[in-house]
Amino acid sequence: MIPVPSDKALVPFVSVDDMMQLIHHIGVEPMLLGLAEYIEADFRRWELFDKTPRIASHSAEGVIELMPTSDGEVYGFKYVNGHPKNTREGLQTVTAFGLLAEVATGYPVLLSEMTMLTAMRTAATSAMVAKHLAPRGARVMAMIGNGAQAEFQTLAMKAVCGIDTVRLYDIDPAATAKCARNLTGRGLDIIACESPEEAIEGAQIVTTCTADKQYATILTDNMVGPGIHINAIGGDCPGKTELAPAVLQRSTIFVEFPPQTRIEGEIQQLAPDHPVTELWQVISGTAPGRTAPEQITLFDSVGFAIEDFSALRYVRDRLPGTGYYHDLDLLADPDDPRDLFGMLLRADPG
Ligand SMILES: NC(=O)c1ccc[n+]([C@@H]2O[C@H](COP(=O)([O-])OP(=O)(O)OC[C@H]3O[C@@H](n4cnc5c(N)ncnc54)[C@H](O)[C@@H]3O)[C@@H](O)[C@H]2O)c1
Repeated sequence: MIPVPSDKALVPFVSVDDMMQLIHHIGVEPMLLGLAEYIEADFRRWELFDKTPRIASHSAEGVIELMPTSDGEVYGFKYVNGHPKNTREGLQTVTAFGLLAEVATGYPVLLSEMTMLTAMRTAATSAMVAKHLAPRGARVMAMIGNGAQAEFQTLAMKAVCGIDTVRLYDIDPAATAKCARNLTGRGLDIIACESPEEAIEGAQIVTTCTADKQYATILTDNMVGPGIHINAIGGDCPGKTELAPAVLQRSTIFVEFPPQTRIEGEIQQLAPDHPVTELWQVISGTAPGRTAPEQITLFDSVGFAIEDFSALRYVRDRLPGTGYYHDLDLLADPDDPRDLFGMLLRADPG
């Protein structure tokens, strides 16, 4: 007889379809707000987390990364890739999945798709940060790069920061048309622009979210006026940046985890000791955020493991009673813990 796995062996698994149903069940904007709250809560207790720059395996085409962290009770990691050329072959630039485990036993307690969830968490992080740094009363955002992340980024800025107008630009007009179509009917004024200069006209928040496996210059010095908040998403790998160094020199720069951002972020273009502010300090009130209306604030986003941990924690808390998961027979868990081989023998079909 084939033994039935014990309860601990069955790990809730959230598939892509489950995740999409969960997002619809909660609502896109309410879930972005909920994720932003979870991420902010974990930034407030930043000091108690295990922190390490992510472990990156680079190739000519892209990168594959592991992103682990723990708060002492729960451990989490995400597997994520970044392959800008993928879209030309009909594949996603970024795909991901992740796991939470109980520190006390080491047993996984959640396995989840994280391609959808990464788009949600990246957007929620951006908006949570913009809430702290953007000029007061910001209503207009520019969204440069209208690919997979773009609608999520826009809706998070609407839900968390009260943005009511988005100005879209992409080198590929088809991407802008897709983004405008997807955002229609969601309470935003949508303006499709023909140049990045046009997109940033009158915007208080400028998001750059392009994908290129090389140094790119999406924002040049003369494009950036005083008082704006820049949310730089696409520069997140060695050799992959979006902003001209002169823009960085004029900005007050905020980062997630300096040891990782100095390798991967826009600030890889600057001296290794260029001053930056850690966001967790702004959020917990120990460092200043925006101090003057004319200041240019820059979130040099690369994506940090704690944000994925927060997102998985949110999903875990929202799952019970929804049915949007499957029990996955993931762990060999024999009745007699030392009789792993006996478990194998009992499973012999012939
Ligand atoms: N910081 C983070 O936490 C985080 C998280 C997820 C993704 N990312 C990064 O965000 C970027 C966007 O991801 P995605 O999944 O939306 O990628 P995507 O490939 O789906 O979209 C990128 C878009 O950028 C456009 N683009 C490329 N060069 C441009 C330019 N010079 N000007 C304007 N548009 C340009 C492309 O045409 C495409 O539509 C990637 O670089 C990815 O690695 C960062």
